[in-house]
Amino acid sequence: MTYANIEIAPSILAANFSRLGEEIRVVEQGGADVIHVDVMDGHFVPNISIGIPVVKSLSQATRLPLDVHLMIEQPEKYIEDFIRAGAGRVLIHQESTVHLDRALSMIREFRAQAGAAINPATPVAMLSDVLDKLDTVLVMSVNPGFGGQKFIPGAMEKIRQLNEWRARYNYSFRIEVDGGVGMENAAALAQAGANTLAAGTTTLHAPDPAAATRQMRKLATEAVRQRV
Ligand code: DX5
Ligand code: ZN
Repeated sequence: MTYANIEIAPSILAANFSRLGEEIRVVEQGGADVIHVDVMDGHFVPNISIGIPVVKSLSQATRLPLDVHLMIEQPEKYIEDFIRAGAGRVLIHQESTVHLDRALSMIREFRAQAGAAINPATPVAMLSDVLDKLDTVLVMSVNPGFGGQKFIPGAMEKIRQLNEWRARYNYSFRIEVDGGVGMENAAALAQAGANTLAAGTTTLHAPDPAAATRQMRKLATEAVRQRV
């Protein structure tokens, strides 16, 4: 964790896939804390992206932790493979498995950090019985499947709710937000309680991705400082 407990996680879905290594190096220079890796299977979401071999190559190309966001059906089948490939954090969707508790335990058994993601239509209460098993709660602020979509405002209230539960019951999970995160909402998201900002378009499509990463951290960190 970095100062003020804010992490910036550029999402490589927005990268040029023929030069992933270089794209990552640039955001690393901008102070990225985590690399967010979107895995899509064409079933859980209507798009297909990348899988285990790419995670393996990325883990050899960067020292930053890989935040592997599994938008796939039956995630428990692949958890071990992704962790062996180098996933430091594995985020699975509450909607993708009827055995969420078991799948989260499996992630920790293989010594990775466990995260659960919820789609925009899923209330935070769906996670209330596993909050003590989570290193990260991922609030989706777009319907998963594509980069470059518009932020769905209802995510803000979910972040506030999670932040309140975290304080009240002394949980230690991070709150991550993913989808439509940009310079215009980074401060408000951090103020609501988000710790990890996953951002694709705003970082990697910027003319200067390192500067954009730095700028997003500045906005989020200053917002948190004002809160305390
Ligand atoms: C969407 C992915 C996001 C996506 C975010 O399904 O989970 O991580 O890359 O992209 P932007 O930041 O462009 O909304
Ligand atoms: Zn994602």
